[in-house]
Amino acid sequence: MRKTKEMDIRGPRLRKQSDEALDFTSSMAADGRIARRVIEVNMAHMAALVEAQEVDPAVGGKCLKFLMGASSVISPGSKAEDFHQQLEQDAVDSLGVETAGFLNYGKSRNDQVATAIRMELRSAIIDFLGAVASVQRALLRQVAKHGEVMIPGYTHLQRAQPVTLAHHFFAHFDALQRDAERALQLYGRVNLSPMGSAAMAGTSVKIDRRYVARLLGFSGLVRNAMDGVASRDAAVESLSCVTIAMLDASRLAEELILWSSAEFGFIELADSYAASSSIMPQKKNAVVAEMVRAKAGSVIGDLMGACAILKALPYSYNLDLQEVTPHLWRAMDDATASIRLLAGMVESASINTEAISSAASGGNSTAVALANHLASEHGVSFRQAHAIVGELVRLSEGAGKPLQDVAAEKLPAVSAKFGKKITLDRNVIRTMLDPEAFLGGIATEGGANPRSVKRELGAREKELAATATSLKGLTSALNASERKLRTTTSGMAREVKPRD
Ligand code: ARG
Repeated sequence: MRKTKEMDIRGPRLRKQSDEALDFTSSMAADGRIARRVIEVNMAHMAALVEAQEVDPAVGGKCLKFLMGASSVISPGSKAEDFHQQLEQDAVDSLGVETAGFLNYGKSRNDQVATAIRMELRSAIIDFLGAVASVQRALLRQVAKHGEVMIPGYTHLQRAQPVTLAHHFFAHFDALQRDAERALQLYGRVNLSPMGSAAMAGTSVKIDRRYVARLLGFSGLVRNAMDGVASRDAAVESLSCVTIAMLDASRLAEELILWSSAEFGFIELADSYAASSSIMPQKKNAVVAEMVRAKAGSVIGDLMGACAILKALPYSYNLDLQEVTPHLWRAMDDATASIRLLAGMVESASINTEAISSAASGGNSTAVALANHLASEHGVSFRQAHAIVGELVRLSEGAGKPLQDVAAEKLPAVSAKFGKKITLDRNVIRTMLDPEAFLGGIATEGGANPRSVKRELGAREKELAATATSLKGLTSALNASERKLRTTTSGMAREVKPRD
């Protein structure tokens, strides 16, 4: 039976806070994101208290029963410092302070919030990794269809050398692969439990930190109790990881925008990722890709915001830390949504293979092959050869004639000027400058030779499968620990006899 009707868990130390101050300092509006985790942390902590015989099993059982039925939905008008306080207050109101008053025995909101953030972050990282893998998969699907198509490679956004579509998409894939690897390593550093840190000194209450950590699915502990409550580098590292990935995503998004413009005409985006204009009836705007590009800016802002809050913050807990958390969720959500949409855009884009390959043969983009040939077969250094071919290009542009014709005619005179008279057969020059021959001649590992597309595709498919396996492992470990928490705590709750 309830003995105490009401008791403000803030205690008698202070008089009432002003509404304005409470509204200003409250995290209720942001706590919905971690409310479920906060309830779980409370459950695991209470289970540890009972296990350590610090709390009577009957009292613990009632608390656990309450927690199992507690709602993680925060109603918009509810006024409290935070959900941690609200939950305990609700428990006190419902069970009485003699019972619910043990919920916070040996713990603090400081270790509780740090733990809840890490739990929620695990899921956010898993979602983020899933999104990254989906873009990678989309890139590989396009490569499987059109990988050997010749496309112009750019430097300085000027046509530079012909490559394959595979070569270009593999470059994006590999950057995203590093983003995924980074996030997987990050996960290991996030997946550590601060519980048992209490306010920051640890506690005389004999809870087994490792027991709590196991129930919450953590692979270990944040060793030092002060570090446990004061550090937010797990948040900053997550923000950094998603920022880097968004830089990568925004570059791909930018290329989709450029490539789908009439000026390039390389791809057509699916209508489902475009919007029209309210005045110009002909328009098809790549609005989703534009938003991905823009979200990269917002994510950078969130990283900067978090860094600025943490800079020079004295140890250990300060309420400033509360202000870091919304940056974290906003960035994780923006990055994951952006990257997922990018996957859909890449997957559904139709590739204008003819336009791309004819652009690849323009712009004298194989001129280096002629220079390499002069250096390897005709006894001039590469720098001399570079000058000879440069002069030939200048002459061909001036005359408005193809480089191969001008080269056949003027090579002897131009080469003589740079130290050695060289004559080459017109056909030899033509073959040399042919873009397909150029690609076929690339001999280095990781280069754009179309012959390596299949092998390189296979290797990347394996990498993608490995990420999928890791993700499955992480997800099933989390599910298993959630089940364990439920069965352990409901077992304890069931042992409470009705007359208790
Ligand atoms: N609402 C706080 C946060 O999000 C929870 C911890 C509050 N701790 C405190 N000592 N006021 O960080």
